[in-house]
Amino acid sequence: MNDLEKKAILSHPDFAGLTPFANKIWLSSPTMHGDEQKWVDDAILTNWVSTIGENINEVERKAAELIGCKYAVGLGTGTAALHLAIRLAGEKLYGQPKANEGTLQGHKAFCTDMTFDATVNPVAYEGGEAVFIDTEPETWNMDPAALERAFTIYPDVKLIVIAHLYGVPGKMAEIRRIADAHGALIVEDAAESFGATYRGKQTGNFGDLGVISFNGNKIITGSCGGMLLCNSEEDAAKVRKWSTQSRDAAPWYQHSELGYNYRMSNIVAGVIRGQMPYLQAHIAQKKAIYERYREGFQDLPVSMNPYAADSEPNWWLSCMLIDDAAMCETKRGDFAAEFTSAPGKSCPTEILQALEAFNAEGRPIWKPMHLQPIYRAHPFIAREDGADVSADVFRRGLCLPSDNKITPDQQDRIIEIIHRCFR
Ligand SMILES: Cc1ncc(COP(=O)(O)O)c(C=O)c1O
Repeated sequence: MNDLEKKAILSHPDFAGLTPFANKIWLSSPTMHGDEQKWVDDAILTNWVSTIGENINEVERKAAELIGCKYAVGLGTGTAALHLAIRLAGEKLYGQPKANEGTLQGHKAFCTDMTFDATVNPVAYEGGEAVFIDTEPETWNMDPAALERAFTIYPDVKLIVIAHLYGVPGKMAEIRRIADAHGALIVEDAAESFGATYRGKQTGNFGDLGVISFNGNKIITGSCGGMLLCNSEEDAAKVRKWSTQSRDAAPWYQHSELGYNYRMSNIVAGVIRGQMPYLQAHIAQKKAIYERYREGFQDLPVSMNPYAADSEPNWWLSCMLIDDAAMCETKRGDFAAEFTSAPGKSCPTEILQALEAFNAEGRPIWKPMHLQPIYRAHPFIAREDGADVSADVFRRGLCLPSDNKITPDQQDRIIEIIHRCFR
């Protein structure tokens, strides 16, 4: 948005009396507490700055303990963790591939449709084809009914890649039941949901392999970083080996398998080590933000992103969904959106533009994978009734500024700006 467009919004009578934030209100930014410095310094002072060291050992131990799995393998990013999880799942299902092929070569995998593309890209890295499964409206995650239907169309599929959107656990009991009935493995992308629980158990525990992320915008961060979660010593050892270029135990550099440079650095692990004690505090702050929005929007034709009674999200991002009847006329192309303002109505584009003009960061809902130019030709499976829930949530929803450092006063101003969008 250029300065003229911003000015036009700020000077519009609907926003009279409101001033922009002097300092930007972020969607979700890192929050350092000081302890991180100690562990980073420790790595530097002891010269353990590479991909071996006490910080890595400690964060792997802590993450496994907290999540309740046997092994957590520290990697450079959540995307790297997803890649190795999906590669390993493919190898378990179809055996070792040729050097120039992926482990999913020529095979399909059922994937969450409404997510960040990092969830599903590794299926392509491994030569597989993602088949996208629609979203259910109760948690905005993979719809078990659509998944069930997908197995009737593609009965040979053996891999499910599922994400927990915005920190809200999906319907894992149903997904697990369906996976088991079809002998399929699950890779669980808990990148956004670290610390969330489903039926009393931490997310990251429900797949055959799990993944968390410490990306800068996540509930806690290492500036970057990710982990693969598993319960098999053999799997953990294999992923560690793959992540450090797959060196054989030979006296020279010898390789029997493809390797990657994906291991976590001990400096990044130092930041994560300093953040770990604050996970619950961040979750509590994010929950308070969600509750304040929910209260503040009670008189608007909107709802908050939903969660099921049997789960406790980590409340990573607060999102809102505009009632269909309160959507103003809007059109979204691949690169731009248009809308026509109407009294009592609004749309995500109008709200996001208003937030931006006032120096606050919101974000559209993840554009569903089946609508992405890169994946449009892939199959998309909805429920029997054919409703495209992903597209509907994308059309009517948006992510609200959810930074854990937002003050109640700042949040009230955000709530007021959004009220004015419906004038
Ligand atoms: C759902 C989801 N999966 C995977 C990732 C990738 O994690 P990373 O950024 O650590 O590579 C992210 C976010 O970044 C994400 O939101």
